[in-house]
Parts: sequence; C-alpha cells; structure tokens
Amino acid sequence: MIDQLYRKAILTVSGQKFVEDIVRKQGWGLAQRFVAGEEVDGAIAAVRELQQDGILGNLDLLGEFVASPEKANEFAEKVLHLLDAAHTAGIPPYASVKLSAVGQGQTVDGQDLGLTNARRIVGRAREHGGFICLDMEDHPRVDQTLEQFRILVGEFGAQHVGTVLQSYLYRTEADRSSLDDLRPNLRIVKGAYLEPDSVAMPDKADVDASYRKLVYAHMAAGNYVNVATHDESIIEDVKHYALAHGISKEAYEFQMLYGVRRDLQKELAAAGYRVRAYIPYGRDWYPYFSRRIAERPANVMFVLRGMLKG
Ligand code: FDA
Repeated sequence: MIDQLYRKAILTVSGQKFVEDIVRKQGWGLAQRFVAGEEVDGAIAAVRELQQDGILGNLDLLGEFVASPEKANEFAEKVLHLLDAAHTAGIPPYASVKLSAVGQGQTVDGQDLGLTNARRIVGRAREHGGFICLDMEDHPRVDQTLEQFRILVGEFGAQHVGTVLQSYLYRTEADRSSLDDLRPNLRIVKGAYLEPDSVAMPDKADVDASYRKLVYAHMAAGNYVNVATHDESIIEDVKHYALAHGISKEAYEFQMLYGVRRDLQKELAAAGYRVRAYIPYGRDWYPYFSRRIAERPANVMFVLRGMLKG
C-alpha cells in the first residue's frame, strides 16, 4: 500500500508543468543513468557494451502520445531509421514501440494510424530478421493494443511481434489466456502507470502474486515468456518453477531496464540465462525518467542529491 502511495505521489508531482520544467533543465545528467543517449548512436554503443557481458538489447526510442498525424509519422520514420541503423551495425533489431507515439487513436484514410505505422515498423523488423515488442501503456489503451497485436501477429507472425501484459490490472489473467491461440511472445511486467483502484490492484502483494501466476500460466501453456522484473524473489521462483516443470532456458528470458540492477543482469547471463536490457534513448526522456523515479524511493534521493550538486 505504501509503495502504491509513493508511486502515485511521485507520478502526480512529476506531472506538474513547473516540476517538469525544472527537471528538464537540470536533469539530463541524471537521466543518463537510465537513458543511453539522445541519439541512435548512443543506443547502439550501449548494446555493444552490454554484449560484452552476454546481455542482449531491446532498443526503445523514447516518445509517448502525440496528437498530430505528422508527428506520429515523423516518429515512425525515426523508428524505421533505428531498425536500419541496428541492422547496418550488425545487430538484429529488437525494439519496443508505444503505439500512442505512432498514431494509435488517430484515423487517417479510414485506418488507425497507429496500426498503419506499426505495420511498416514490424514489416521492416521482419525484413531484417528482427522483433518488435508493443509496449503496454495506460489502461484505456489495452483493448486497442491487444486487438492491433492480434492483427499484426496474423500478418507478420508471432516470431516478429510481441506485446506486454501488466500484472497490476484485474483484467490481465483473462487477457493472457485469450491470446493463447496466437502462441504469443509476451513480456510480463508489474505495470508502471498511475491507475485507479477500480482497474488496478492497490496492494503490492497482490500485484506480485498476480505476476507469478501470469508467468507460470504463460510458461505452462508452452509460450515464450519475457520475465521483465528486477524483483529477485520472483526471479528465483521463476527459475525454480521452470526447473521443476522441465521448461528449458530457451523458452524464456529475463528482461531488466538499462541502468537498473546491472549486477543481477550480469549474474544471470553468466549462469546461462538469456538476459535482455531495455535500452531507451532519445530527447523525450522526461516521462520515462519520472516512471523510473516513481518505482523506488531511493531514486528520489538520487535526483535531489544530483540537483543540489548541479
Ligand atoms: P518492484 O517495483 O517490486 O521492484 C523490485 C526491486 O527492484 C526492488 O528492490 C526495487 O527497489 C528495484 N527496482 C525496481 N525499479 C527500480 C528502478 N527504477 N531503479 C532502481 N531499482 C529499481 N511497464 C508498463 O506499464 N508497460 C511496459 O511496457 C513496461 N515495459 C517494461 C520493460 C522492461 C524490460 C521492464 C524491466 C519493465 C517494464 N515496465 C513496463 C515497468 C514495470 O511495469 C515496473 O514498473 C518496473 O519493472 C518495476 O517493477 P519490478 O518488477 O522491478 O518490481
């Protein structure tokens, strides 16, 4: 309960314009702990560095909801550029995309622009032998994201596109089983948005229990699972569950955020688990940075200390 209150407080404060202005002015130096750079070169350099420790990358051009079709198309072009740049650098392009950033909810020529742009992006990833994960955003977008995911899997195959389910939502257990026919590659997360109690569990213990349940169910159904968490007790339990049920290390991977628990990422990779770091980059780092601060009280001290020094 305290965790949820803390998260709500931080996300509410960081949503204030004056707080954003101050942090944007002074915060880039601090944001670099969680963000690999403002340009694509920084992200590719981060992938190469992680590769030395046997850790894979999941590239994410930072950006959230945009209101104009021009901006959405511009963003989609930048994602295509990212996929080409990774391919040219000899890295199989594995990237994450927020559909709201490429036009989800805007109708152009009778089609949802988010889906039109997602088709271009997943198509390009497939050309390069890559993979796109559709990030999950706040709860009003879940229905449309899952519908569009289903369409994209039908057109491009589950080996080139996946999505995310959030264990804090009451609806997620039913969503997971409704996708089983696609044999989907899913990333399971706890959930990072400010959601009302009517849709999301307010108690962390329930969110954690729901997380384990989702991962086990997805594994038991024979699907590939991205176990995206820094929660060591969950990671240990998932390892034991897989061992006890004869699920091979090829059937799942651990995912963590760039700049968070690098020690644990290295340890898991050294033990032969597939590990992938989510590597965000780009100029629109503020909302992403705020969610990371909201996840852990110690991160607020990190920001305050940094700002006082600056
Ligand atoms: P929890 O919050 O319980 O933390 C477990 C431990 O990790 C604690 O010790 C904690 O202190 C430490 N920790 C967690 N976050 C930290 C941080 N920022 N800095 C330092 N330590 C930290 N969410 C979403 O809604 N949609 C999405 O698409 C995604 N995508 C995504 C991809 C990947 C690869 C990851 C790892 C996470 C996401 N998330 C997400 C975010 C997710 O919902 C969640 O907010 C964070 O992962 C934090 O929750 P944990 O599972 O780590 O557990």
